[in-house]
Amino acid sequence: MTAPGRFIAFEGGEGAGKSTQARLLAEALRARGLTVIVTREPGGTPGAEAIRTLLLSPPGEAWPPQAEALLFAAARADHVAHLIRPALARGDWVICDRFVDSSRAYQGGAGGLGDDAITALHAFGSKGLRPDRVILLEGDETALADRLATRGQAADAIEGRPVEYHRAVAAAFRALAEADPQGFARIDALGAPEDVHARILAALGDLLP
Ligand code: TYD
Repeated sequence: MTAPGRFIAFEGGEGAGKSTQARLLAEALRARGLTVIVTREPGGTPGAEAIRTLLLSPPGEAWPPQAEALLFAAARADHVAHLIRPALARGDWVICDRFVDSSRAYQGGAGGLGDDAITALHAFGSKGLRPDRVILLEGDETALADRLATRGQAADAIEGRPVEYHRAVAAAFRALAEADPQGFARIDALGAPEDVHARILAALGDLLP
């Protein structure tokens, strides 16, 4: 029997280093002989990547909050059905750069739609799939903003929202993690990438074969 696949999601605000850490974790798991898929949201499949473009560069006026939440949920439903569930069924590990807790923190918390609405969309769209563990990368707001500034990319429609919005996102992530200490590992995102990586591996110790 193949070992069950594991599903790890990286979460956090902008500039927390999720993509770098997802890559480092994948390398470490592959070195242990595991088959690992690294993917991201919004996106990960052709359908979801097309929705990503709609979300991050809205073609018309800004999306109303409800439409934004529906589009994120639709992208996720495609990603879960076509990539994540089949990979887990094969016994692969799936590392996802953002998942439903981003919708809970951004659209539900900062966007004001509330957690029940986002959870209901996720139950309908993706049968409520949860990661085996969420790695929440947290850091001092100013330090993360500095990191983001040195990245030098133009802000997308969501990244470009006011600082209060992003502060509310961070508070919402914190509250989600506090409510589910088993499901979330809160990791200090500041410091050298190798040090952050070591903290993440330690936080996954009980899941590693
Ligand atoms: P991402 O490409 O991960 O951006 P970054 O590299 O800056 O973290 O995500 C794009 C944006 O979409 C980001 O601002 C967070 C936002 N987002 C939501 O608002 N809700 C969601 O459910 C997801 C997955 C992302």
